Amino acid sequence: MASDMTQISHQKLLIIDFGSQVTQLIARRLRELNIYCEIHPFNKVTSAFLTEFDPKAVIFSGGPASVIDENSPRPPIEVFDLGVPILGICYGQQVMMQMLGGKVERGHGTAEFGRAFVAPSAKKLPLLDGWFEADKEQVWMSHGDHVSAIADGFEVYGTSPNAPFAITADTKRNFFAVQFHPEVHHTPNGAKLYENFVKLAGFTGDWTMGLYREQAIATIREQVGDKKVICGLSGGVDSSVAAVLIHEAIGDQLTCVFVDHGLLRQGESDEVVAMFRDNYNIQLIHADEQELFLGELDGQSDPETKRKIIGSLFIDVFQKYANQIEGAEFLAQGTLYPDVIESVSFSGGPSVTIKSHHNVGGLPEKMGLKLVEPLRELFKDEVRALGRELGLPASFIGRHPFPGPGLAIRCPGEITREKLDILRKADAVYIDQIRKHNLYDEIWQAFVAILPVRTVGVMGDGRTYDFACALRAVTSVDGMTADYYPFTHEFLGETATRIINEVEGINRVTYDITSKPPGTIEWE
Ligand code: XMP
Repeated sequence: MASDMTQISHQKLLIIDFGSQVTQLIARRLRELNIYCEIHPFNKVTSAFLTEFDPKAVIFSGGPASVIDENSPRPPIEVFDLGVPILGICYGQQVMMQMLGGKVERGHGTAEFGRAFVAPSAKKLPLLDGWFEADKEQVWMSHGDHVSAIADGFEVYGTSPNAPFAITADTKRNFFAVQFHPEVHHTPNGAKLYENFVKLAGFTGDWTMGLYREQAIATIREQVGDKKVICGLSGGVDSSVAAVLIHEAIGDQLTCVFVDHGLLRQGESDEVVAMFRDNYNIQLIHADEQELFLGELDGQSDPETKRKIIGSLFIDVFQKYANQIEGAEFLAQGTLYPDVIESVSFSGGPSVTIKSHHNVGGLPEKMGLKLVEPLRELFKDEVRALGRELGLPASFIGRHPFPGPGLAIRCPGEITREKLDILRKADAVYIDQIRKHNLYDEIWQAFVAILPVRTVGVMGDGRTYDFACALRAVTSVDGMTADYYPFTHEFLGETATRIINEVEGINRVTYDITSKPPGTIEWE
């Protein structure tokens, strides 16, 4: 089976992954053009897979291997007989040349890493429409080996100082091969190249959220039939969008369980409950389990212990409430595409790693439930677009990510109710400041951590001995790496003053200027 969505009638593009760090970016560029594509590792792409998948075009990604090495990764030879356009990128270019009769050689002074400039040849190529308006184009190279002879049928359309075959094409078969990476931002005009490629492959850009919504609803109805579905709501965007979509498909066959572990932000619990009950009329169990969680966390200060307690209680509690829903056969999860892409590893031969990062992980097996994952094909920003399509409030869709263990990991050391109360108030003031200054949407995530230390201060004529806190705000694309946000000193000063004046229990405010790595975004 190529995909869960093969019954859906999108035009499909296949990306064969040879292990490049930036393969996902190819998919991003294509999705931005309303093209449906899937990434599959080369070792899963057999001739039979190609027939079943039936792509309208194929892209070979880059990769760290060398085609000169024995047993280097290859696509099945039949890919060249599909009669569809193929674009080879970096390693993908080299593998295409090698398999079609060209030659690839090791670096020896011709390696190129980073920025380079490609100049055009005299002949025009539709793939390059909109390119070379200046006399050369900036591209991003990352190759040790290089093509030293092109295959029969290919011609050269662009060269760089170290890559005489930077852009080549066989226009009869619509095979294109480029040495650089058009998917990265350092190839500023790269998106244009993808746009031209899909245009000449005959794609019409039929991958829209409106259509996705209709088709996902049909798929959910078919999968679930007249059975019941339960969905764990965290209040985050993914689970909320999944819930609203499933509700649209099956109405009251869906019940959501929202576990309040006492580690939510100020007003959060009421907001989530009101949104689902009032706006959507979704059946919702509001599981108030604050006593249980805070009781079990009492006296615990080790970060991993705290996480494990929360994770395991979450499963127990969810299971307890889910058991009350008679006939539930399905569990809905907001799993996203980046979580399910199978990545290629070259250590010890091709292997498959699938990330899974769910706050209710382990539940389906334990309870014998089948999974409904209607967001499996989507990237995070597409989930937001689907949320907008479904009419979720913009303020809700744009919310910063919030971790499953909640405020527990923003309260280093022992968690007490007093500290949680102080933290909630300080966090609310900080976020209010960020919103007032119109900075919320520029920031990936912002929060306060309350520190396990009291410091001496002076307020009015009196001595204070209260908690210190740290403000955190980062910019990031995916949470994997992050930079601290460069607030102005005025903003920081004003915010510190407000927190100390408005939040009893805090008398010192610091700003965390650690990037990730070496820090992490959360404090625990
Ligand atoms: P770190 O702290 O690892 O966080 O840099 C990266 C991103 O992941 C979020 N995060 C979590 N999200 N369950 C979640 O749902 C968790 O256990 C968890 N831990 C961290 C964090 O808020 C940031 O966005």
